[in-house]
Amino acid sequence: KQLSIVGVPMDMGQMRRGVDMGPSAIRYAGMVERLQELQFDVEDLGDLYVERSQTQTDDSGPKLRNLPRVVSVCEQLAGKVDDIVSRKRFPIVLGGDHSIAIGTLAGLSKHHQNLGVIWYDAHGDLNTEETSPSGNIHGMPLAVSLGVGHPLLTNLYQDGAKIKKENVVLIGTRALDDGEKEFVRREGIKVFTMHEIDRMGMTAVMEETIAHLAHTDGVHLSLDLDALDPHDAPGVGTPVIGGLSYRESHLAMEMLAESGIITSAEFVEVNPILDERNKTADTAVALMGSLFGEKLK
Ligand code: ARG
Ligand code: MN
Ligand code: MN
Ligand code: MN
Repeated sequence: KQLSIVGVPMDMGQMRRGVDMGPSAIRYAGMVERLQELQFDVEDLGDLYVERSQTQTDDSGPKLRNLPRVVSVCEQLAGKVDDIVSRKRFPIVLGGDHSIAIGTLAGLSKHHQNLGVIWYDAHGDLNTEETSPSGNIHGMPLAVSLGVGHPLLTNLYQDGAKIKKENVVLIGTRALDDGEKEFVRREGIKVFTMHEIDRMGMTAVMEETIAHLAHTDGVHLSLDLDALDPHDAPGVGTPVIGGLSYRESHLAMEMLAESGIITSAEFVEVNPILDERNKTADTAVALMGSLFGEKLK
């Protein structure tokens, strides 16, 4: 595998400044070296240019905060991801807040008719401007990618839905808003909440996930660090207690490595300002080690 890294210093999809420094924190945690040790050809494309936002939070349309700027960054990212896959390389996207998944999936969709998606997250990110309690676009990327949301987002890069509801699996879910619960029920989306993970164990959850996605033509892992318990990943903007443990998450990554199904990945929501001595970025890099087969080598 030939890996290409792209950082997206985006913090406009939510309210806590600092998540734009996520890509740096992850690199400082030794990501490139870790992957090179696994004998991969690693290309670091650096960070996309993202306009600084500290003094410019747009509250004129609080239902879709910073919409025009999120759209332009995601468009840029979609092009970058499209290009990486065209060069037959494996894209690894570093966030930045989770709104960037809109761009990642838009770029990937040029190359897949039947892309699977694993949404490893405390949240569903299935809000629309109507259901969102916050107006933050990082709570919307999965809905948008399924074709539901503001047309500037759903038609980004190419028109319409980028993925199909039967190709999506949520893992680690424990904070769904009312509108998101309704979305999951209406569309019949596969969700492994913390309840199922506690009952079945991560082994069975991953076996079912891999089986559920067996018919796809590639699988994207969208890993929001807030899927993990705040004890193990404190540096996130929207922590939710009662999350996945460090060990469960390693097991999940190792099973994905063994399955060989993953064709792209993103690691998002690392906010170094909220972190403890870069613990969350360290966790992200450790999980990448497992995802890319550390145990198998
Ligand atoms: N559901 C909440 C919202 O819509 C929180 C979303 C958190 N999303 C995330 N990617 N961390 O605002
Ligand atoms: Mn989340
Ligand atoms: Mn998320
Ligand atoms: Mn612990």
